[in-house]
Amino acid sequence: MEKMWAGRFAKALDKKADDFNSSIATDKRMYRQDITGSMAHAAMLGKQGIISDEESKKIIECLAGILADIDEGKLEIDPEAEDIHMFVESVLTKRLGDTGKKLHTARSRNDQVALDIRLYLRDESEEIISLIKSLISAIVKQAEMHKRTIMPGYTHLQRAQPITFAHQLLTYGMMLSRDITRIRDAVARMNVSPIGSCALAGTTYDTDRYFEAKELGFDGITLNSIDGVSDRDFCLELMSAFAIIMMHLSRFSEEIILWSSWEFKFIELDDSFTTGSSIMPQKKNSDMAELVRGKTGRVYGDLMALLTTLKGLPLAYNKDMQEDKDAMFDSLDTVKACLEIFAPMIDTMRALPENMYNAAGKGFINATDLADYLTKKGMPFRTAYKNVGEIVAECIEKNTVLDKLPLEAYKAHSDLFCDDLYKEISLETCVEKRISAGGTGLSSVEAQIEFLKKAAE
Ligand code: ARG
Repeated sequence: MEKMWAGRFAKALDKKADDFNSSIATDKRMYRQDITGSMAHAAMLGKQGIISDEESKKIIECLAGILADIDEGKLEIDPEAEDIHMFVESVLTKRLGDTGKKLHTARSRNDQVALDIRLYLRDESEEIISLIKSLISAIVKQAEMHKRTIMPGYTHLQRAQPITFAHQLLTYGMMLSRDITRIRDAVARMNVSPIGSCALAGTTYDTDRYFEAKELGFDGITLNSIDGVSDRDFCLELMSAFAIIMMHLSRFSEEIILWSSWEFKFIELDDSFTTGSSIMPQKKNSDMAELVRGKTGRVYGDLMALLTTLKGLPLAYNKDMQEDKDAMFDSLDTVKACLEIFAPMIDTMRALPENMYNAAGKGFINATDLADYLTKKGMPFRTAYKNVGEIVAECIEKNTVLDKLPLEAYKAHSDLFCDDLYKEISLETCVEKRISAGGTGLSSVEAQIEFLKKAAE
C-alpha cells in the first residue's frame, strides 16, 4: 500500500523497515478510541467552518460505519498498515474519497496518538478498578467468616502477637482500597485533551480545542502544545500504580504460598485454583499465586522500560515513543489477568482455623500481654518486659508455654502474679482486648469491613 506520506520520497520503504516501523499489531486495540476521537475532530472542524457541515456529517457517519464494521468483524484491521491512525484514515478515504482526506486537517498523528492512549486508558482504568473491587469483596467475604478466627501475627516471620485471620486479610483490602484511589488520582491528572496540539506547535486554523475536549469527556485541555504531544507521564503514573498493585498482590501471594504449605497449613486453596506435579503424586501447588508473584517482576520491568525510553528524549515527539504502548499494554494486561485470577482464588479459599490456633499457641505470642498484665498492676513496662523475658527463657528450658507454667513458678518472678493471669493471657483475651482503633479487636475489624464494603461499591 502506498504510504500517505509517499510524496516526498523517490523510493518505497524497504519491506523490513516497513515491518519494523509498523505499530499496528500493538495499537490496533485502540481502534474504538481512534475513531471516537476522529468523530469529535470532524464535528469540531464542521462547527468551526474549517470543513462544511455536510462534509463533517459525512465523515462522522462514515467513521461510525467503520467502527460498526470492525466491531462486527466485517472489516479486518490490515496487519500491513503503519498504525491504527493511518488504517482508519485510509479506509475513510477509500469510502469517502476527497472528503475523507479532509479529516486530518488541523491535527497530527502526534496529538492523535496522545489522545487515543488517554481515551483507552481512561476506559481500562475503570475496568481495573472494578476488578480490584471484586477482589476486595472476596476479601471482605472471607473476613466476615473469620472475625473470631485466631492466628499468629508475625514480625520477622516470627510469631509475634495473636490476631484474627480477618484482621490479616483486611490488611490487603486496605492496600487495595488505596490502589483504587491511586488510579483515580492518576486518571484525574490524565483527563485533559491533547488533541489540537497538532504536530507540536499548534495550528493556524481557528480550532476549538475546548469543544473537542468536552465532546470526548475531558475535564480540560493540555495548555502547552509541545507538552500535549510529548507527555507520557500519565502512562508512567498508571504503570506505577499498577506496579504497586502487583507489589501488594505479590506479598499476598507469598503468604498464600506459605499458608498453603504443610509447614503452616493455615489455608487450603480450592482444587480449581491449584495444580499438581508431573512426578510427585502428593503435590498440590499454589501456581496461581506463584505466577502472580512472578509476573510482578514483569510489571516493574514495563515501568522501568518506559521510564528509560523517555529519559533522554528531546522535545517533542520522537519515534521512540511508539514503544510506550507495548510497555503500557503489557503492564495493563498483566495486572488485569492477575486481578481476574486472584478474586476467585481468594473467594474459594478455605481457612483451617484449628491449625492457625495451634500455631498461635506455641510461640509465646502472649508474652506482650503478660508484660502488660504486670504493668497494669503497677510495674514499670521495661521491668515487666525483662521479667517476662526471663519467664519465657524458663519456659523454653522446661519445654512448656506461658499458659501452662504453674503459678508458683510465676510467683518466684514477681508477687504481682495471681491466678487471674491465665485468663489475661489466653489467646481469646489477647485478641478481644486489642480494642484500640485499627487493632485486631472485633469492633475495629467490623469497622474495617464496613469501610471496605463501601470502597468496593
Ligand atoms: N504509531 C505512532 C506511535 O505510536 C503514531 C505517531 C506517529 N507520529 C509520527 N510523527 N511518526 O507513536
